[in-house]
Amino acid sequence: MSDSTVGRRPFLKGALGSVALLAVPGRLFAIAGQPGSASAPLPDRYPPIIPGFPHILHGADWNPDQWLHEPSVIDEDLRLMEKSGCNTFSVGIFAWSTLEPAEGRFELAWLDDIMNRLAAKARYAFLATPSGAKPRWMSETYPEVRRVNRAGQRELHGSRHNHCFTSPVYREKVRIINAKLADRYKGHKALAGWHISNEYSGSCYCDHCLGAFRAWLQARYGSLEALNKAWWASFWSQTFQSWDQIDPRDSPVDGLNLDWDRFVTHQTVDFMRHEIAPLKAATPAIPVTTNMMSAFVGLDYWRFTDISDRMSWDAYPTLHGEDSWRSAVNLSFYHDLYRTMKGGLPFILMESTPSNTNWQQTPQIKKPGQHRQEMLLAIGHGADTTMYFQWRKSLGAAEKMHGAVVDHGEAERTRVFKDIADHGAFLRHLDAVVGTTVRPEVAVVQDWEVRWSLMYTQGPRQQSARGPFDKEYLQTCQDHYRPFWKLGVPVDVIESLSPFDPYELIVAPMLFMLKPGVADRLEAFVKAGGTLVLTYLSGIVDETALVLRGGWPGGGLRKLAGIWSEEIDALYPDSPQRIVPAAGSAFSMPGEHPVRDYCERVHPEGATVLATYKNDFYAGMPALTVNTYGAGRVYYLAARPAQDGFLDGFTRGLVSQLRLARCLDVELPEGVTMQKRAGGGRTFYFLHNFRRQDQVVDLGWTRLKDVSDGRVLTGRTTLAPFASFVLEKA
Ligand code: GAL
Repeated sequence: MSDSTVGRRPFLKGALGSVALLAVPGRLFAIAGQPGSASAPLPDRYPPIIPGFPHILHGADWNPDQWLHEPSVIDEDLRLMEKSGCNTFSVGIFAWSTLEPAEGRFELAWLDDIMNRLAAKARYAFLATPSGAKPRWMSETYPEVRRVNRAGQRELHGSRHNHCFTSPVYREKVRIINAKLADRYKGHKALAGWHISNEYSGSCYCDHCLGAFRAWLQARYGSLEALNKAWWASFWSQTFQSWDQIDPRDSPVDGLNLDWDRFVTHQTVDFMRHEIAPLKAATPAIPVTTNMMSAFVGLDYWRFTDISDRMSWDAYPTLHGEDSWRSAVNLSFYHDLYRTMKGGLPFILMESTPSNTNWQQTPQIKKPGQHRQEMLLAIGHGADTTMYFQWRKSLGAAEKMHGAVVDHGEAERTRVFKDIADHGAFLRHLDAVVGTTVRPEVAVVQDWEVRWSLMYTQGPRQQSARGPFDKEYLQTCQDHYRPFWKLGVPVDVIESLSPFDPYELIVAPMLFMLKPGVADRLEAFVKAGGTLVLTYLSGIVDETALVLRGGWPGGGLRKLAGIWSEEIDALYPDSPQRIVPAAGSAFSMPGEHPVRDYCERVHPEGATVLATYKNDFYAGMPALTVNTYGAGRVYYLAARPAQDGFLDGFTRGLVSQLRLARCLDVELPEGVTMQKRAGGGRTFYFLHNFRRQDQVVDLGWTRLKDVSDGRVLTGRTTLAPFASFVLEKA
């Protein structure tokens, strides 16, 4: 079969027997939940975050607890809120020492006042549980709440995000304060949601934590014999003779390191569940969420999805410089991740800066137009909020120089305040966007455990040429995502445990670790007509980091890909190695393409060769192959392209062969992108120019109406620098 004659998947894709196929508006069928779970129709439109308040939420972290000694500032805040177009505030995130200034002495009157004043103006609070920063009295009275570091020392009180997740005392103190808040504010008109803690992160090595880790391992492996085998512990005489010998700070064992990361996630999820229990007991209908950090490597965020009613995240991109559109790609990738994590449910952009981000190396302020653009990018990818850190700058301490809606002087006269107020006014045109979503045909797999397994494996080279410790796993996922962004093709960002059936095309770069069942589910997906893209470094280890035997890509992927990868070469940075597409290939990537870091020596075992290596003793061997398997196809890319051109051409070819839908059938120049959201019988198109110069898009005969002013765009349309539009078909 030539590589140009692929058809679309069969109408009803031959999905897994246990999965029902359902017709819903806008999409023929859908599968919800994890593999094996019951299917359910996906909603055409989701309810708003706050029932009866069908608007995009707009607001900020607000810390009135820092200003109780100066009530006029709080009065001024409320006056400014009126003018800012903000409606929702995250309150009390780090307020524990104000809420409970001494053990058991609770002072909540100030918060009553804040909540009442918000409610009086029909504003809302994401009320925070204060566990992100413990009060000093607690550190003093109960040293066990302070973490023990890798060196075995108990930390000082320190700053924030530094409590032990296992400590029974900390858990009890958190339960008490959370229950107080929940009982006090249940039924309060201003209570829109619970903001659980803040950016959970880090780990502790105290005896409580080590004990919990060992118990978790016992439950996982059953016996030391099984554990030693799974970890290959006889290597360098590491064999464990008792559970007490297991210490995550002292190990060259990959499996142990991996399990420690899993445990830290498990324990943090358990802590969050513990935080949520008293809240749900008192306020079962109020959504809970915790604010996350892009693809923070320390926690597998997918494990939080079941206990979060909505996903939220804090976005601090560096959209600086001529190439800032590349940062916008990565930002979009994270937005798509957070939308995908709850199956398309609109997510919460909980923090973003209205201006500069003081902890960045070069905290550039936003250029005119950039703020609205950043916010509309989030909404276009599925955010139903645009929220900021922070409402007002603190007068002292770490964040007095961080961007805020309200500066130290001249309040509403600043450019930033006006930007926020403008954006607030603009959001009034987007009520119909609330609850809409997108159902992509493409998914890129980005899996935390795969990333960890790459981090803990020595070789095939220690780092990529550009440095990151994860062998550029995350960046590689984003490199494969970027061409879809450029084409305006919607993408979900899934993990390897996610259902595959909703998609036409799955791109799974560097799928180094195969968790149980993943290869079988990929096989079912391809057999049923799906297209799968695999790359170098796939199917190398199992879930305990033991190598999969029998030739790579292992675990069953070899027969899917129709190739055998015999060896992996590591390249020096200036390698002359090139990929050369085969003559007559349907993919539009003419010329030679430099590669970097990795080249695999691959033998076809039924696959068709689409490109070969140019140099070295393996010149002429396959660098890109395709294999037909069942009703589908598997592509295998054996080397890492060094420049955009190769993946751009390859992806464009896939999109056209599979007839994957772009948001609109228009060509987008580099730095311009489009997303869409649909529901309730309407479709919204978000069009952005991220370049610092005019860009022209030819809309042809398509007529698009700006939802804010009714202006119609059609034909050749010039987009000014940082221009962003929300459009509907006219
Ligand atoms: C976030 C954090 C906020 C604030 C912000 C500053 O990571 O959640 O509390 O510190 O960074 O950019």
